[in-house]
Amino acid sequence: MELTVKNGHLFWDGCDTVDLAKTYGTPLYVFSQSIIEERCQELRRDFVDKYENVRVAYASKAFSTMAMLKIIEKQGFSLEVLSDGELHTALQAGFPVEKIEINGNNKSMVELEMAIDHGVGRIIVDSLQEVDLISAMAQEKNKTVNILFRITPEVNVATHSFISTGQKDSKFGIPINDDILFPQVQKAIEAAGINFLGFHFHVGSQLSDNSAHLGAVDIALDLVKMVKERFDYEISELNFGGGFGVRYTDEDIRQPFAYFLAPMMDKVLAFCEKENYPQPAVVIEPGRSIVAEAGITLHTIGAIKELPGIRKYVSIDGGMTDNIRPGLYDANYTGVLANKADQAAAETVTVSGKACESTDILVKDLELPNVETGDIFATFSTGAYGYSMASNYNKLAIPAVVLVKDGQADLIVKRQSLDQMIQNEVIPESLK
Ligand code: LLP
Repeated sequence: MELTVKNGHLFWDGCDTVDLAKTYGTPLYVFSQSIIEERCQELRRDFVDKYENVRVAYASKAFSTMAMLKIIEKQGFSLEVLSDGELHTALQAGFPVEKIEINGNNKSMVELEMAIDHGVGRIIVDSLQEVDLISAMAQEKNKTVNILFRITPEVNVATHSFISTGQKDSKFGIPINDDILFPQVQKAIEAAGINFLGFHFHVGSQLSDNSAHLGAVDIALDLVKMVKERFDYEISELNFGGGFGVRYTDEDIRQPFAYFLAPMMDKVLAFCEKENYPQPAVVIEPGRSIVAEAGITLHTIGAIKELPGIRKYVSIDGGMTDNIRPGLYDANYTGVLANKADQAAAETVTVSGKACESTDILVKDLELPNVETGDIFATFSTGAYGYSMASNYNKLAIPAVVLVKDGQADLIVKRQSLDQMIQNEVIPESLK
């Protein structure tokens, strides 16, 4: 990883991270706007500007804040949301509603209603009840709703099983078979208030091999052909989800977007040519690959505990509450001492969080310069699924988020206060 170090301090998008820690306190998420924009530019170059009728819908679950959605909007991208909360964030940020699509294996009536009332661009159907529900709601409201079906492509992926979603035994997607999917397709074609656009899949996350994506594209195209044969219906949109992997440590590879997208598009274009089929719109939903590497987290080192002959624990003022990924997926991270970024490694330590949980270990066996209480530890590649999966376990506050670009820093999320953590709590009269 190329790091910028000045006067011994780690800089991030032109900002001194030690100063940021001082100004905003720790734990602190710091996002480089330039890196986010570079990723978007790469997507435009290798996808949006390269093919006709294709779109990027940023998967906001990776990092959903109003400032982030503004960056995405300025790129001309669409947006994928999964819940009323993600939709609300987008609406409050003024994101163009027709560019929003909503996913989810269990959308509530409230969420469906909210999506239809506001006029979201697409609803991705992922349950067997939804077509009826949407059709009824749409008719009542005198609207037409664009839908796609999320299918289960039944491909196995090389990633942690907790983040693989396209396999046969999955709560996500609708199995492609005669008894389940096809009656739904027929219903969608015929139902009033529904405009059936096509199919969606998402095979899994953090992938550095394109075979699952390519296998799923084949399956989706077979399905497109079957729908044409059975129902004489031509679909107009395919959505291939996200899942493109990033670099957390030197062991990881971040493949260029074109490594996935070029052969996927080749398949679509070849299919259309061979079958004389009008080219459907193609949408992708990257989340992690846009935002992960843009983010770092700053923590202050507190207690240091050396267990002779075993290991040295250096504790930070956050941990699994701001990054649950090591505890949940055994995810590996790396980091540096931001205030000693020019010093050589001098010892091997284990960076542990402060939550009351043995799995709250951020990085195991990391080589660092001599660690002292008060040092600032910067963890890399925490931009995706860090803030968005943060919790208040042990009543630790959700950290602040700062957006940096070319030396300019803006606070985009304030640190949660202690009072905010209990503001919705009520002591019943009987206990007073
Ligand atoms: N579209 C759909 C329908 C998805 O389910 C997901 C992720 C994405 C797009 C975005 O995938 P990405 O490009 O970010 O890989 N919390 C886990 C990741 C769960 C992802 C679930 N779905 C983690 O921290 O690794």
